[in-house]
Amino acid sequence: MSYSTEEKNAIYRVIRERRDMRHFNQKPVDAEILYKLIQAAQQAPSVGYMQPWRFIRISDYDIRMHIYEMVKAEIAETAEHVGSKREAYMNLKLEGLRECAEVWVAALMEGRDEYVLGRRTMPEMDLASLSCAIQNVWLTARAEGIGVGWVSFFHPDELADLLNMPEGSYPAAVLCIGNVDAFYSEPLLKTEGWDNERNLDEILFENTWGQNCDL
Ligand SMILES: Cc1cc2nc3c(=O)[nH]c(=O)nc-3n(C[C@H](O)[C@H](O)[C@H](O)COP(=O)(O)O)c2cc1C
Repeated sequence: MSYSTEEKNAIYRVIRERRDMRHFNQKPVDAEILYKLIQAAQQAPSVGYMQPWRFIRISDYDIRMHIYEMVKAEIAETAEHVGSKREAYMNLKLEGLRECAEVWVAALMEGRDEYVLGRRTMPEMDLASLSCAIQNVWLTARAEGIGVGWVSFFHPDELADLLNMPEGSYPAAVLCIGNVDAFYSEPLLKTEGWDNERNLDEILFENTWGQNCDL
């Protein structure tokens, strides 16, 4: 069954207007909405129906601040690796961990080696599946007027230790979730001059790599 024009336009709009947010106000997020977010994660596709995603809601202030310190340290460390873009990098805002209402850690479960369906040659499909779940959270949040920021500046081992995660599990993302005063109208990294969107001819080929495809 197809959807009405209005419904389709809502989907296209939410995809277009989803943003990675790093500015939040302190207003709490309704429990009802949080439940919708985790439901959306659960409804994501996954390799071999593996559902490898786990989410840890960080409600403890000290743990949140510990995560913030880890992220801050890694953001500083990364400055030593960005080469000539160092000055531009120093002006970027790359997380909103202290301001956002909610912090969730998105992780891969332990014991993933047992799952071979679609992963025998590509074990990383578990991470691809988790990413689908995160994208579902992101889009659902946007539809509800809630901002999400994906933070990946941390050492996974350190974060796993902090959260008492079992051997073999893997924390892949720290998600800042919260109310915002306004959504950015374009990616913040674009506004801040870090990079621009790719043209279609750079990302779409026909038959063989690099071959132009006219759509
Ligand atoms: C896997 C992944 C990791 C990311 N990690 C970070 C991060 O650590 N800090 C940050 O500010 N943004 C992070 N982002 C957000 C991107 O910077 C953002 O998606 C991109 O600039 C495009 O902006 P938009 O999401 O608003 O369209 C991440 C996004 C993805 C998909």
